[in-house]
Amino acid sequence: MNKRQTRLFAIASTAIASLIFLVLTVDSHRQFPTLTNADTITEEVVRGQQVWHNYNCINCHTIFGEGAYYAPDLTKITQLRGVPYLTAFMKDPAQFYDEQKHRRLMPNLGMSDQEISDVIAFMDWVSRVDNQGWPPRPILVTGSAIPGADLSIAQQQGEGAAASMPPGARPVAADNDPIALGEALFRTAVPTCQACHSMTPGVNLAGPSLAGLSDFFEKIKASGDYTGNATTAEEFVRESIVEPSAWLHPGPMYSAGGVSFMPPNYGEDLTQEQIDHLVAYLLSFK
Ligand code: HEC
Ligand code: HEC
Repeated sequence: MNKRQTRLFAIASTAIASLIFLVLTVDSHRQFPTLTNADTITEEVVRGQQVWHNYNCINCHTIFGEGAYYAPDLTKITQLRGVPYLTAFMKDPAQFYDEQKHRRLMPNLGMSDQEISDVIAFMDWVSRVDNQGWPPRPILVTGSAIPGADLSIAQQQGEGAAASMPPGARPVAADNDPIALGEALFRTAVPTCQACHSMTPGVNLAGPSLAGLSDFFEKIKASGDYTGNATTAEEFVRESIVEPSAWLHPGPMYSAGGVSFMPPNYGEDLTQEQIDHLVAYLLSFK
C-alpha cells in the first residue's frame, strides 16, 4: 500500500466502524421502552427512586451491577421476597439478621411507611426490567439461591449449606415422580421457596425450616397452639402454601399484625397439581 491507499483505508475503516456504532446505538435506544417497561413507571416508582437516592442504598447495595458490593444485589429482590416481608425488614432489619452470624447488618434507616412502600414499588419496577442476565454473579441475600445463579452467601460461608440440596432430596429422576417435581418447583416457584426456607432442621432463614413438618403439625395440634383449619399434616402443608396467614408460625420475624411474611400469591399462581407436588415433596422429609 502506498501512502494514499493507507490514508483511504484508515478513513474508510473509521467510517464503517462509526456507522456500525451509530446503528447499534440507535437500535439500543429503540429497544429501551420495551426492555425497561417505560409505561409502568408510575409516580410511586419515581418517588421510590428518590428514596433510593436519598438514603444512599447504593453505598451498600447494587442494582443492575451498579453500586457497592457490601450488601446483596437488589435487582430481583421483589421476586425473592414479598411485600409484607420487605416492609417489615426495612422497618427493622435487625429483627431478621444477626450481625454475628451473618457478619453484616443493614442499619435501621428510619424510613417512613410511605418511603418504604415507594422504594418497594421502585425495586419492583427494577425487577421487571429485562436486564439480559446482568449482573451475572450478584451477591445474594443470605440463604437465597436464584435458580441458575451462583452460590449464595450462606453456601459460600458453609452455613445452611443444605439450603439448595437438602439431605434426602432426590435428583429429578422421572417426569412423573411427584416428589421430584415438587423439589424442582421448590426451587423454581416465583418467589422461589428456597429463598426463605431450608430443609435442614433448625436452619431458619426468612421463614422457618421445613424439616419434619408431620411431627411439627402433630406437636402444635396437641399443644393447642394451632388455630387453622387443617386436621392432617397434608392439609396443614397445603393450607400453609395457599393461605399463609391462616395460621402463623410463632415469632416476630415471621409475621406482623396477623399477616404472614410468606408471599400470598401461590394459591393463585400454582395449579392444584403443582401444589400436590410441593406437598408430596415437603412431607417426604421425616
Ligand atoms: C450500610 C449499608 C446498607 C445500606 C445503606 C442499605 N442496606 Fe440494605 N442491606 C444491607 C445488608 C448488609 C443486608 C444483608 C443482610 C444479609 O443478607 O445478611 C441488606 C439487605 C437488604 C434487603 C434484603 C433483605 C432480605 O432479607 O431479603 C433489602 C430489600 C434492602 N437491604 C433494601 C435496602 C434499601 C431499599 C436501602 C436504601 C433505602 C438499603 N437497603 C440501604 C446493608 C445496607
Ligand atoms: C419471602 C419468604 C418466603 C417464601 C418465598 C416462602 N415462604 Fe413459606 N413461610 C415463610 C414464613 C415467614 C413462614 C412462617 C409464617 C407463617 O406461618 O406463614 C412460612 C411458612 C411456611 C410453611 C408452614 C411451616 C411452619 O412451620 O409454619 C410452609 C409449609 C411453607 N412456608 C412452604 C413454602 C413453600 C412451599 C414456598 C414456595 C412455594 C414458600 N413457603 C415460600 C416465608 C416464605
